[in-house]
Amino acid sequence: MPGIALVGIQWGDEGKGKVTDLFAEHTELVVRYQGGNNAGHTIVVGQERYALHLIPTGILYPHCVPVIGPGVVVNPQVLIEEMDSLEQRGVDTARLLLSGNAHLIMPYHLELDKVTERRLGKNRLGTTKRGIGPAYADKAARIGLRVQDLLDPKIFSAKLEVAIKEKNLLLTRVYGRLPLDRTQVEEEYLAYGERLVSHITDTNRVVQRALDDDKTVLFEGAQATMLDLDHGTYPFVTSSNPIAGGACVGGGAGPRDLQRIVGISKAYCTRVGSGPFPSEADPADAELLVEAGDEYGTTTGRKRRCGWFDAVAARYAARLNTLSELVVTKLDVLSAFDTIKVCVAYEYEGERFEDFPPNQTIFNKCRPVFEELPSWSEDITGARSMHDLPKEARSYLETVESLSRTPVSWASVGPGRDQIVDTKAGGA
Ligand code: GDP
Ligand code: IMO
Ligand code: MG
Repeated sequence: MPGIALVGIQWGDEGKGKVTDLFAEHTELVVRYQGGNNAGHTIVVGQERYALHLIPTGILYPHCVPVIGPGVVVNPQVLIEEMDSLEQRGVDTARLLLSGNAHLIMPYHLELDKVTERRLGKNRLGTTKRGIGPAYADKAARIGLRVQDLLDPKIFSAKLEVAIKEKNLLLTRVYGRLPLDRTQVEEEYLAYGERLVSHITDTNRVVQRALDDDKTVLFEGAQATMLDLDHGTYPFVTSSNPIAGGACVGGGAGPRDLQRIVGISKAYCTRVGSGPFPSEADPADAELLVEAGDEYGTTTGRKRRCGWFDAVAARYAARLNTLSELVVTKLDVLSAFDTIKVCVAYEYEGERFEDFPPNQTIFNKCRPVFEELPSWSEDITGARSMHDLPKEARSYLETVESLSRTPVSWASVGPGRDQIVDTKAGGA
């Protein structure tokens, strides 16, 4: 039965980890379909807090098989460290499956990510410096090394030879860095292969069989719609396709396998790294959002830029992902404000844009058209039903629903597993 895709509709960190965990309770398979360890997904279970970067959120439920699909780029060292750290906390990682077709992040990708950002200077993207862009670039150039190459030392050695020669020239001649030692890289990676061998498989077969057997398969997006390589705020994007369409490409399913597409949005908006952000708040409001929402990156610890809910971007994401519903997270954070702003449109040279502007010049320079709504001051972290929410909070959810033209099915009121409100159950 259903394939369900969970996608961020803003610039990442919407609370995908928490929401995937919520859905995973009734799911057999959780599949990561793109990105790598640039992601940071936080799940809070009782007193325990997990920050997952590469391993799908389903790992925390023993009944769930976590799958790293072919569209992901994998740093095997980070994967093994993440597995070890989960094992130390009593989480069994033996069920984890890793696609042989997933591409490997190599040491030269990390180097190149760093030196490219340095070279770009004030035009830098503010990447996570995890080697994501260079790894996807090699994939597209067809000189990437894949997880399955780790299982055949001869092939691995031959492919590495070709790739590392070119990278070393680039590193030494263009960037004035030291070359990487081929033998050392080869030995290191083949050892990772030995460690990971029992997890490596053709994950497409596993995913497709589960769907054919009427099992629920969750496709866990990393990053988000506005960071999508093709549809986001290029070049200030990541190098993969987080949108729902990417779940098919990178997860090994077909478009008709997706029956539910759940968009995840904060009740406000954040962004890490450079790039345009039309609904960015003024410094005082942004500071309060950082403080109330604890807005620091899960992966890099950077302070997140904060702004208000952007209805133009939400409508864009709703159509692009064909969202069936929205989950609104961090509603509790807005208790800190007397009034809440919502960006309902953009304005550029006297023209009003209700829909996403057709080119980057407008998007870069447009001004937000804000509407102001009443907030509430009650602590809502204990709310478990719509009846527990103040009327202003219910009304805010209705506004989000109407502006984004998408039904809101859940509202999250805290990081914990149980801090969730089913908006359609006995609700307003
Ligand atoms: P992801 O990358 O989309 O999984 O999101 P992150 O985990 O990077 O960032 C979301 C942060 O918000 C995490 O620290 C979560 O624990 C936290 N969080 C998630 N939902 C809520 C919520 O409803 N309220 C509050 N206050 N925090 C939340
Ligand atoms: P999750 O899954 C927020 C941002 C980086 C940078 C841009 C490109 O936790 O939502 P990259 O390293 O991917 O080449 O960086 O994308 N970025 C994220 N921002 N959440 C993420 O993941 C992100 N992953 C990448 O800050 O602006
Ligand atoms: Mg995150």
